[in-house]
Amino acid sequence: MHSFARHRHRKPDKTSTKTTKGLVLNAGQGYDFSALLFDTLWFRGQWRELRRRTITLARIQAGERVLDVGCGTGTLALEVARRVSNASLIAGIDPGTQQIARAKAKAARRREPVNFQVGVIEQIPFPDQTFDAVFSTLMMHHLPASLKRQGLAEIARVLKPGGRLIIADFTRKQDRHGRAARFHAGGSNLQDLTASIQESGLTQVTTEEMMPKRFSAFPGAGFIIAYKR
Ligand SMILES: C[S@@+](CC[C@H](N)C(=O)[O-])C[C@H]1O[C@@H](n2cnc3c(N)ncnc32)[C@H](O)[C@@H]1O
Repeated sequence: MHSFARHRHRKPDKTSTKTTKGLVLNAGQGYDFSALLFDTLWFRGQWRELRRRTITLARIQAGERVLDVGCGTGTLALEVARRVSNASLIAGIDPGTQQIARAKAKAARRREPVNFQVGVIEQIPFPDQTFDAVFSTLMMHHLPASLKRQGLAEIARVLKPGGRLIIADFTRKQDRHGRAARFHAGGSNLQDLTASIQESGLTQVTTEEMMPKRFSAFPGAGFIIAYKR
């Protein structure tokens, strides 16, 4: 996936309205098309599987409020809306204006009332203690370390007491082997990310790993779940 993403982002992104030190993607429909192609041909469906597992780990209940930070074109938030028809609020933020435009168009087409808006993790546009669950998939490696810490503190702020954070991210290149090692230069180290999450005040941090299938270029991923006291 990120061979194309890196290519797109060597130049500064002039269409994004929110400034951030994060690596912003802004390909809209092109992102969805490339993602589908990558997942089908190279990842053997493991990207879809990662989203499915992320939602399952979140155990969303009726009436809950859910936020996807770095939502891209909204695929995960829309999948949550499809699977949990009685959530009270589903929202997604991303600094990429084209990503958000695409997410809104998909939501309108599917008649899903998901609140997508341009926004950044370092300044989440919601009041304190709004959400029962916050997701972040494949975005933590888009942030430099200081921004990651700032973003995690923001997530802790918008979570309700007892609320949970579910992060899914690729593992780092040096932590993988064989064919998968060629794909995606970035990635997260689960231990480092766990330490940053604990620093943000979230507790009961647990991790799970998703190993690449045989003959797949999927880099391997990790899930982290943490709770606000
Ligand atoms: C690889 S994409 C993942 C998108 C989506 N979560 C998914 O799983 O398809 C990473 C996303 O992080 C977003 N991003 C970059 N900097 C960010 C920031 N400071 N705050 C929130 N999102 C950011 C990018 O614009 C991009 O859409």
